[in-house]
Amino acid sequence: MPTPHVIGIVSYKGGVGKSTTAVALASCLGAAGQVPVILDADGQQDSKAYRDEAIAGGKGFICPVASVSPETIDARLSEIGEVADYVFLDCPPDVHVFSPLITRCEMAIVPTTPSKADYRGAKRVIEVLSDFGIPYGMLVTRSERRRMDRRIAGWVARDRIDVFDTVIPDRQFVREIFGEPFKPKQLHELRYDRLTVELEEVLGETTQ
Ligand SMILES: Nc1ncnc2c1ncn2[C@@H]1O[C@H](COP(=O)(O)OP(=O)(O)OP(=O)(O)O)[C@@H](O)[C@H]1O
Ligand SMILES: [Mg+2]
Repeated sequence: MPTPHVIGIVSYKGGVGKSTTAVALASCLGAAGQVPVILDADGQQDSKAYRDEAIAGGKGFICPVASVSPETIDARLSEIGEVADYVFLDCPPDVHVFSPLITRCEMAIVPTTPSKADYRGAKRVIEVLSDFGIPYGMLVTRSERRRMDRRIAGWVARDRIDVFDTVIPDRQFVREIFGEPFKPKQLHELRYDRLTVELEEVLGETTQ
């Protein structure tokens, strides 16, 4: 039985792009012929609402999205394990909920905006991940620059944080397309296609 890559998307901060990243990565992988599934553990159920809205609008959606909790994660993963290549776990910002979930993950993505407050929140999550021995990559999202901000580059070097080279730029259209499937051009503009390649490389390393 093939085992899917299970990737947690986790942060202490709201609004840093967790749900957007789950949907965008699933869209890139789905377009490349992989089978993604999103598990939504956040009480707000944004990933699930995104899919429901797309389906209600007759637009279709790239993958199934199911609700999950620490109590149901194992059952969900064993059902999905039969079919999925990638599972993205959209985690809530509550350590008591995300801790039991991330222990089921092969790695975690920790989104942060370039703000210092969000970076501090991401660092705290990374401490939890490190305590559990879970590999992670910090992801800079909603950036006004297309490259790593010098300030952030300095912080991650100082704190020895693993960070994805890919930086997700802030684009107004993201705030307007809730419930619209991402177009390939939009995924490219947001650099989620590059992030997918980088993620596959990191997973290749963690599974060796
Ligand atoms: N790259 C981006 N450019 C512009 N806006 C973005 C980008 N990524 C996300 N957003 C917007 O920022 C807001 C928060 O994004 P998202 O819902 O993905 O974050 P989240 O971390 O899942 O938040 P929450 O903690 O509320 O679940 C949304 O309005 C979303 O459309
Ligand atoms: Mg969310």
